[in-house]
Amino acid sequence: MDQMKKKSFVSVADLSKEDILRLVKSAESFEKNPNRKILEGKVCATLFFEPSTRTRLSFETAINRLDGKVIGFSDAATTSSSKGETLKDTIKMVSNYADLIIMRHYLEGAARYASEITDVPVINAGDGANQHPSQTMLDLYSIYKTQGKLNNLTITMVGDLKYGRTVHSLIVGMSHFNPAFNFIAPEELRLPDIYKQFMEEKGLYYKEYTDFSEEVINGSDILYMTRVQRERFTDLMEYEKVKNIYILKNNMLKDSKENLRILHPLPRVNEIAYDVDDNFKAYYFEQAKNGVFARQAIICDVLGTNHPPAP
Ligand code: CP
Repeated sequence: MDQMKKKSFVSVADLSKEDILRLVKSAESFEKNPNRKILEGKVCATLFFEPSTRTRLSFETAINRLDGKVIGFSDAATTSSSKGETLKDTIKMVSNYADLIIMRHYLEGAARYASEITDVPVINAGDGANQHPSQTMLDLYSIYKTQGKLNNLTITMVGDLKYGRTVHSLIVGMSHFNPAFNFIAPEELRLPDIYKQFMEEKGLYYKEYTDFSEEVINGSDILYMTRVQRERFTDLMEYEKVKNIYILKNNMLKDSKENLRILHPLPRVNEIAYDVDDNFKAYYFEQAKNGVFARQAIICDVLGTNHPPAP
């Protein structure tokens, strides 16, 4: 295996500030012109060992719009992993068929492991509670589009900061751009210490809260709501205690900044009331649409395709 020739996309921590800005610009170019023949002749495998709507369908849309072909599965129960085939053997097999592997897995580190046992590029579509780096690229692109910049923004993250992999990835991604973070979570779902240490080492400002107050919302440029991750709880009684702890309602936004935008990786359960959807500050559906362009940028980057910028 020639590791020099292969480029995977496993963790936001592997990306420099320049990498992120290049991918944001590339996403912008794909949004202007998403239909191109860049992946003609390429077969891309989407291996989803955990449920997904947006990530899998936006990756597949991204590939289809670039004239690539898609193979894969959305339910591992229909594959030979249900007969006991290991992840290693599955990855080895799929590497015989595809030019690119896009994988979501319930185990933290699964994408890194996969990338180390194949010479086909691997894109991490979420590994347990660890990282969701392609979500981070679409989040960064959404922040850039709505704020006109990435630097010096106040980002408030609300909900399940313990298990929310999109939160973990976004902290790392934003760390290049001098953010100020507010973290709102119940004690049970506080941000893990490892991310606090990371921010302290980088000299970044952050503050933790347990109250979801209008005061914090009113000082924010981005309000990043998250779902309590039921699937990560070993004790469902614990989930029941915290599942509806924070609910954003439209009247909580009345004194928020004009440029505030509300992001959510989705799916939503109860944490954003439906009356927020009609507020122009609600951006979560457009955010999901941006996923197609951000993922086109990521795919072309790992495959090393040369594509001219959109006119
Ligand atoms: N944001 C996200 O990962 O959504 P899905 O679980 O539907 O892919």
